[in-house]
Amino acid sequence: MKSETVIASAPAKVILFGEHFVVYGKPAIAVAIDRRVYVKVGIREDRKLYIRSLSLEISGYFQNEKFFLESGKESAEEKFEPIRVVAEKLLEASNKDVGVTIEIDSQIPVAAGLGSSASVAAATATALNHLLNAELSREEIFRVTFEAEKLIHGTPSGIDPAIATYGGAIVYRKDEGFQPMNIEFSVPLIVGDTGLERSTGSLVAHVKQIRNAYPEIVNSIFEAGEKIVEKAVQALKEGDLEVLGRLMLINHGLLFAIGVSHEKLDKLVHAALRAGAYGAKLTGAGGGGCMIAIAPSKLVDQVISSIEQAGGTAFPAKINVEGARIEN
Ligand code: MEV
Repeated sequence: MKSETVIASAPAKVILFGEHFVVYGKPAIAVAIDRRVYVKVGIREDRKLYIRSLSLEISGYFQNEKFFLESGKESAEEKFEPIRVVAEKLLEASNKDVGVTIEIDSQIPVAAGLGSSASVAAATATALNHLLNAELSREEIFRVTFEAEKLIHGTPSGIDPAIATYGGAIVYRKDEGFQPMNIEFSVPLIVGDTGLERSTGSLVAHVKQIRNAYPEIVNSIFEAGEKIVEKAVQALKEGDLEVLGRLMLINHGLLFAIGVSHEKLDKLVHAALRAGAYGAKLTGAGGGGCMIAIAPSKLVDQVISSIEQAGGTAFPAKINVEGARIEN
């Protein structure tokens, strides 16, 4: 067992196409982007499972099945529960009866559609795996991360844990797992944040409701989503940004139709188009959170200012980055 501290990180993700439909077995395309969460772990002499989130400004510890808040909000226990699950799985796998300290430092906006919860779980599992010599494979790290994600989001597809763990760019299907994609050209991608936090679980539940009410209509929307992904895979191979942009807009329209957009998301999408983007759409669960746009490289700065003038914050994102990894 190592006595030093171990730092691991995992990337944020952007779903380019197919969110929500992926929960119903349709394919989706996700890419890892260059914003990461960093998790530092160390062994403790006591048996406490101590967790501190620098970004959320909360800390506390679990001991004998109870949670003790040290600083921050009352909701800390709920926020830390998935991390507890990850830590316990790793302690169990390593057969070690010790306490651990877990410190989280994140560059990823929370509850914004960029998969921050999966990234925290994947980075925590990777760091503890190394610290405790648990020898879990990457596939097992993915499984543990997925278990934690189920506690937060109800019935997630697994796309967030997959991209946080493996990184790169993937086509994901719930029942078949994922296929890595080679994207050989640079995609000028912009992420715009509405600043509105929302819950993935309740948006997924909303889609379920609307599908129960109008099954034929909503199933056709899912079918259309599948066709979009097929065409997008081709356009990504060919580097055809104009086609990707058009497909993004159609995808946004379908997501609007099932009720997961938001006035502010639509406003940021229009702002991006006005500044010359090829296309734009919400990304992730919607209802607030983030949108993405693809633009000609020379217009990226203009698209960013247009999104900011419309009340969002925006940044250019590099895609295809590495998945969960040890940093020290
Ligand atoms: C959330 O990032 C993506 C959703 O499709 C939910 C999921 O796939 O688990 C909305």
